[in-house]
Amino acid sequence: MSFVTKNGDFFVESVSIKQIAASVGTPFYVYSDAVLRKNYQLLSEALSDVNALICFAVKANSNLSVLKTFGSMGGGADVVSEGELRRALKAGISPEKIVFAGVGKAVSEIEFALMAGIYQFNVESLPELESINDVATRLGKEANISIRVNPDVDALSHSKISTGRKQDKFGVSIDFLDELIDFIKDSTYLRLKGISTHIGSQLTQLEPFSQAFQKIRILFEEIDQKHGIRLERLDLGGGIGIPYQEKLSFTMQDYAAVIQDVFKDLDVQFVFEPGRSLAGEAGVLVSEVLYVKKGAIRDFIIVDGAMNDLKRQALYDAYHHISVLTKNTGAEEQFDVVGPVCESSDVFGTSRSFVRPSPGDIVLIHDAGAYGATMSSYYNTRLLVPEVLVKGDQFSVIRPRPTYEEIFAREPLAQWLSE
Ligand SMILES: Cc1ncc(COP(=O)(O)O)c(C=O)c1O
Repeated sequence: MSFVTKNGDFFVESVSIKQIAASVGTPFYVYSDAVLRKNYQLLSEALSDVNALICFAVKANSNLSVLKTFGSMGGGADVVSEGELRRALKAGISPEKIVFAGVGKAVSEIEFALMAGIYQFNVESLPELESINDVATRLGKEANISIRVNPDVDALSHSKISTGRKQDKFGVSIDFLDELIDFIKDSTYLRLKGISTHIGSQLTQLEPFSQAFQKIRILFEEIDQKHGIRLERLDLGGGIGIPYQEKLSFTMQDYAAVIQDVFKDLDVQFVFEPGRSLAGEAGVLVSEVLYVKKGAIRDFIIVDGAMNDLKRQALYDAYHHISVLTKNTGAEEQFDVVGPVCESSDVFGTSRSFVRPSPGDIVLIHDAGAYGATMSSYYNTRLLVPEVLVKGDQFSVIRPRPTYEEIFAREPLAQWLSE
C-alpha cells in the first residue's frame, strides 16, 4: 500500500507526512513514485497486445522528476507548448516519442519542434497545417502529421473538459478532413502519418471512447479508399478518469478490450496520451489547519492551502476526498474546508464530516497529482506550492517553494518609478 494512515500519521510509501511537513512546511504536494509506476505499468500491460506508445500528457503534471520517472519506463510525452516540449526533452525523453497537440501552435513553437525532430504534430486546423508547411519548407525539413479529428462525441464528462463535441474548438470536423489531406498530398515536406482523437478528460464511461474509436476506424478505411493513403499511426488520446468520488465503471483492461475490438486487425502504431489516469491518484496536497471558524450554517476549517494551489474545485466544482489528521476525539461534525484566498470559490469541500480539528493539524486533499501543481499560481501573492517526490523511505523536494525576493526580482519597476 502506497498511502496508509497509521497511528495518527499518514504515510506515503514509508515516509511520514508529518516528517515531510516539518521539513518542507505546508502547503505542499507529495507524489508517490510507486503509484506513478504502478499506473504506468497497469496501462502498459493492458495495452500489451497492441503496438502502443504511451505519451504522458505533460499538462497533467509537468514536474521534471515525474516526466523522468515515466520516461525511464519507456514513456513518451504529449505536449501542447514549446515550454512543455522543452520540459520533456530536459527530462531526457527522446523527441521521437513526443507528440505536439493544441489548437494554437505559434510559428516559433513549430520551428522549435521541427528542429527538435518530434514524432508528430497533431494538427487541429488547415491554417495550422499551412504554418507547419511554411516552416518545414523554409527549414527543408519533413514534418510528420497526424490530423486530430473532432468526432462529435460527447465524453459525458464535465463540459469544461469535454473536447470532442462539434461545438468544441478542438480537432478538425470530419467534413473538413479531405481539405487537409489534399493540402498534405500537394505539399513537399508534409507527411500524413495518422489521425488522432481526444474527446475529453475524466471519462468515467467506456461508451464515448467506443463511439469515437469506431469513427476513427471508419475514417482509417475511407482515407485509404479515397486518398490511397494507408495510415501508419492512430493516436487515441487520453481521457481515462480516476475515482475521485465513485469507482469507475471500467478498468484499463476494459478500455484495452475496446481498442482490440475496434482495431483488432490493424497493423499500426497506436499512440496514447494519458495524463490524469497516470498521475492523479499518485499525489496529495498537504495543508495545515490555521483556524476553525464558527459559521452561520456550518463551521469552517480554514487551511493554509488554497485555490491557487489546486484550482480544480474552483474551475470544475471538482470533488476531492479530504482527510484530517487530528489527535482530538469526539463525534464527527460537518465542516466546509476552505482556503485563505479572497474568493468565495476557494473551497476544497463542503459538508465534510470530521472530528473537530485543532490549528496545526494536517489536512490531506487526495487525488491531486494531476492538474494540481501544473495549474497553480501566485494569486494573492501566495508562494507557488512546493512539490515532493517519495520513493520507499526517501523523499526529495522536486520543486522548492520560491522566495518573495525571487518573485520581486522578476518585476523590475517601470523606469520612471525607480528613479
Ligand atoms: C490533446 C490531449 N491529450 C491528452 C490529454 C490528457 O487527458 P487525461 O489527463 O484526461 O488523460 C489532454 C487533456 O485534456 C489533451 O488535451
